[in-house]
Amino acid sequence: MKREELKRAVATAALEELRDGMLLGIGTGSTVNHFIDLLAEHRHRVQAVVSSSEASSRRLSEIGLEPVELSSVNDLDLYVDGADEATKHGHLIKGGGGALTREKIVAAASRRFVCIIDDSKLKGVLGAFPLPVEVIPMARAYVSRQMVKAGGRPVWRSDFVTDNGNDIIDVHNLNIMNPLEMERRFNQIAGVVTVGLFAQRRADLLLISSPAGVRRIEP
Ligand code: 5RP
Repeated sequence: MKREELKRAVATAALEELRDGMLLGIGTGSTVNHFIDLLAEHRHRVQAVVSSSEASSRRLSEIGLEPVELSSVNDLDLYVDGADEATKHGHLIKGGGGALTREKIVAAASRRFVCIIDDSKLKGVLGAFPLPVEVIPMARAYVSRQMVKAGGRPVWRSDFVTDNGNDIIDVHNLNIMNPLEMERRFNQIAGVVTVGLFAQRRADLLLISSPAGVRRIEP
């Protein structure tokens, strides 16, 4: 089965989590793009949608769902997003697409976070995928030095600026045994806007597609 077929299958499974009249949060990435495309047929069922990136906002507009500001609505009922890595505990690495900050905000403001991945992303320990960290541009070198002290190898994503006008550092070689503790620790470094670890606000439901079908893990 091709990777795109796996993404389509898990996006289709996520549609079953949608209920009429929901306030819906939408993540970012190629898996979520399938979800947005499928949502076109169900857009009348959605009360309002909040987007986590300019890219997803454009795609939502194309299917006739104009995103609203997060501040104009109450807590969201459901957030659907992908991830770069996940554990069975629902801890995630996100930010491969650089949208981690808005994703973390929308996830925090949502009552339920459904994460859609294929089985290549399910790991015993996080960290094979380099950890994205969004930083205020003037803090880039400083934060990078702190990442070296923490045992990582930081690489500046030099061709990329986030939707918030910031830089991304991808931190390689981290063996993330305790995601909750690392998220807290890295969050405290001056100049860090967001760490791509989603442990404090983890996924409530993982939908994982493989050639055998889509399975569910509720951590
Ligand atoms: C973007 C993200 C994405 O969810 C993550 O990169 C997965 O993307 P894809 O579905 O394209 O593999 O965190 O910031």
